[in-house]
Amino acid sequence: MESITKYTEVFNAYLTRKCNNQAPSSLFEPVNYILNLGGKRIRPALVLMTTDLFEGNVETAYSATMAVEVFHNFSLVHDDIMDDAPLRRQRPTVHEKWDVNTAILSGDAMLIWAYQCFEDYDQHSFYALVKLFSKTAQEVCSGQQYDMDFENLQEVSIENYLEMIRLKTAVLVACAFKMGAIIAGTNIENQDYIYNFGLNLGIAFQIQDDLLDVYGDPKTFGKQIGGDIIANKKTFLYLKALEISSEDDHNQLKHLFSISPKNTKAKIETVKQIYDQYDVKSLSNQQIEKHKHKALKSLDQLILSENKKQKLINFAQELMQREV
Ligand code: IPE
Ligand code: IPE
Ligand code: MG
Ligand code: MG
Ligand code: MG
Repeated sequence: MESITKYTEVFNAYLTRKCNNQAPSSLFEPVNYILNLGGKRIRPALVLMTTDLFEGNVETAYSATMAVEVFHNFSLVHDDIMDDAPLRRQRPTVHEKWDVNTAILSGDAMLIWAYQCFEDYDQHSFYALVKLFSKTAQEVCSGQQYDMDFENLQEVSIENYLEMIRLKTAVLVACAFKMGAIIAGTNIENQDYIYNFGLNLGIAFQIQDDLLDVYGDPKTFGKQIGGDIIANKKTFLYLKALEISSEDDHNQLKHLFSISPKNTKAKIETVKQIYDQYDVKSLSNQQIEKHKHKALKSLDQLILSENKKQKLINFAQELMQREV
């Protein structure tokens, strides 16, 4: 992702300096493992980019970048337990490589580390950043719970789904943008516009994630293909297919998403055939575009030079083309 590469590199160098081998290794080795598996580093890069765009001192944002990335990785460690996922970033998930108890406690240690990062800020910034962060973290928990609840719910509307992904995914992306805005000391209005920009991009990002779960390239995607189908996740693709399919296909889909067969391959194939038949891929892309457009709309009111707004637009365009 060209537009954020320089920030990603700055973050990775900082992360290398900050990772150490604390004792006990049985607690901290998994922490270093997940953090060093790579990942796109979008959220920390966004904190840095936004600080820079609003003319703040980028170095003062380092601790906040660590907080968001460590929190994000914590959420993935626990998410992979909840989703029973075997693969993350091409490698075994923490609970597969070690065990579930290790993944729970190493995840907890990461959440605490994320909060400790804010100790580097003065009272004024500390308060604003922690307040935003706590609200975000609690929303992510709610989103994750809705995601789990929906697995066993028959009737989930697209509206319910959009609210669920706003919470589980979009608020953290929005939070990353707003943190940069807070650190740079821009006004509240700008903070809110950039937050809304991030929120809509985050919604688009999760729909894209749902799409890649089915149509991603297994060689590069890094996660198990069809994981959402196996886990009966109410994704955008599933809900859209239910909405537009014939009665027979509708019933078959509903049935498939109420069972957990041993032969996951056959289930994934059948679901994919139905998705293909109704071109759910294009409809998902339309929804992604809709949220990207909404995001770009919030830039209209933002007080920032056109040149700098263009950097945000470039990022939005690139993000929607991701394959990983
Ligand atoms: C994965 O996030 C979890 C979602 C919110 C969809 P990313 O796609 O940013 O994961 P990494 O950090 O790049 O691996
Ligand atoms: C993840 O959603 C959201 C959080 C971790 C909070 P997913 O479950 O779709 O993410 P992946 O696909 O496992 O990365
Ligand atoms: Mg998952
Ligand atoms: Mg999940
Ligand atoms: Mg996913």
